[in-house]
Amino acid sequence: MDELRLRPLRPADGPGFAAWGLDRRFCEVAGWRLDRSLAGHEAHWRWVIAEPKADHLRLAAVLGEEVVGYVDFAGSEVGWRELGYVVGPSARWGRGVGGAVARAGVEYGFGVLALREIRAEALDANVASVRILQSLGMTETGRGEDDSFLGEPSFYRRFRLSKASADGTYARVHKLAGGV
Ligand SMILES: CC(C)(COP(=O)(O)OP(=O)(O)OC[C@H]1O[C@@H](n2cnc3c(N)ncnc32)[C@H](O)[C@@H]1OP(=O)(O)O)[C@@H](O)C(=O)NCCC(=O)NCCS
Repeated sequence: MDELRLRPLRPADGPGFAAWGLDRRFCEVAGWRLDRSLAGHEAHWRWVIAEPKADHLRLAAVLGEEVVGYVDFAGSEVGWRELGYVVGPSARWGRGVGGAVARAGVEYGFGVLALREIRAEALDANVASVRILQSLGMTETGRGEDDSFLGEPSFYRRFRLSKASADGTYARVHKLAGGV
């Protein structure tokens, strides 16, 4: 896979994100509205990109030349943010992109935002998302709110990763790979 990088959103990204709104499977899993027209999605994204919220940083995930997803850092507390990650359209799922996007988010959070802790939640029924958080070496810290996933009842599972434990995991992986 090409290297995946994160960068600020650009106005030109809007139509690409908006097009995911026509992908029914994507909308159902991601929790996007199903009743919005393409023009409605485009207007929504114009607004999201033009008027970012102070407590919600969203970055485009770019693979090669293509925008394949985005990462969210939500919150305004000192030292930690809540990580979110999305890959679109659904035809891209199941090929390791989601894991790479989330990993890039963790690296950005600790390396660029200098966070001490990254938190995340995944619905229990969203197996790929839970798997991603486990693969990042996150610690499960408890049960969050009830919600539904694809029309079935589910509940959020809460996870956390501290910079110290992420550094430790990286060092172990690096050592196993023969690094110093
Ligand atoms: C969740 C999401 C990011 C996953 O993206 P993806 O590109 O399919 O993820 P990956 O291909 O990297 O798969 C991640 C892991 O889940 C597993 N997986 C993927 N789809 C799966 C499925 N349908 N059932 C079971 N496991 C699955 C993969 O095997 C992989 O596990 P591994 O690392 O042990 O091999 C994507 O479905 C998405 O954008 N969903 C909408 C938004 C969302 O739910 N975000 C998460 C909450 S913020």
